[in-house]
Amino acid sequence: MGAIANNMAEETAYEKYLHADKILSFQKKDDELICDGERDFQGVQQEAELIWTRVNFILKRTNERMGKGDLHEAAHLLEQAASLWSGLTAKSEELLWRLWPGDFLKLRKTLGRGSTADSPRYNESERLGRTLWTPYESFLKSRGIGLARLLADNEGEDSDGLRSLTKAMMWYDYRVQEFNLAHLYLVFAEIGDKTVGLKGGTTAYLIKRYNKFLFPKLWDSLNELYKDFKT
Ligand code: HEM
Repeated sequence: MGAIANNMAEETAYEKYLHADKILSFQKKDDELICDGERDFQGVQQEAELIWTRVNFILKRTNERMGKGDLHEAAHLLEQAASLWSGLTAKSEELLWRLWPGDFLKLRKTLGRGSTADSPRYNESERLGRTLWTPYESFLKSRGIGLARLLADNEGEDSDGLRSLTKAMMWYDYRVQEFNLAHLYLVFAEIGDKTVGLKGGTTAYLIKRYNKFLFPKLWDSLNELYKDFKT
């Protein structure tokens, strides 16, 4: 019996590889939680940091692929990164659903000035996303085609992957904005639209940020496409 108990306490190879003990040591123990909702809140914030490292890794690989002119593969990678953002959106929605405002009021007092707006990994994801525009534009230039003309094309040819990549970039941007929107509603639901955040911003700040697409020229090109349109 004693041997079995000892064995159970031993770290498995699986846990060693993951550094599970270290990771879990950063979570509050059940009896340290200020309220039940803190398990979800701290958990989602921690998961977000891990997810952003994965997103950032994929974005670097996407950039490399674009540099090599492998646009089909770049498009696939970007779709995978977009799907990671969807996961994060779902977690933010989960918090809106589960986190009771009175619980958040209580635990917020313990957060100090710690705002996710200062997360280096989140900020890096934005920077890396925006860097994709340069190789994309160079590719358009090398093909001698403007974005509006590419969008107007209805031949359905995608031999070089430019169409797939264009859609993937729109898709990626959309998934990031979707997260921003879900987060915005989370803020409405927890602290309201007038309460100042831990970094000093209200939802007005977040709405302004939300309007900043990663690839604004891509979205604007649709206006260009329709500028002379008449029925
Ligand atoms: C549960 C309650 C939450 C509240 C009340 C909240 C509130 C806020 C507010 C007011 C800001 C604006 C900057 C500031 O003054 O801090 C902000 C920024 C941010 N929050 Fe949250 N947040 C919450 C949870 C989360 C979670 C769970 C995540 C991640 C999954 C997250 C990610 C972010 C990010 C990435 C920013 C920066 C946004 C940007 O710069 O566009 N927040 N949050």
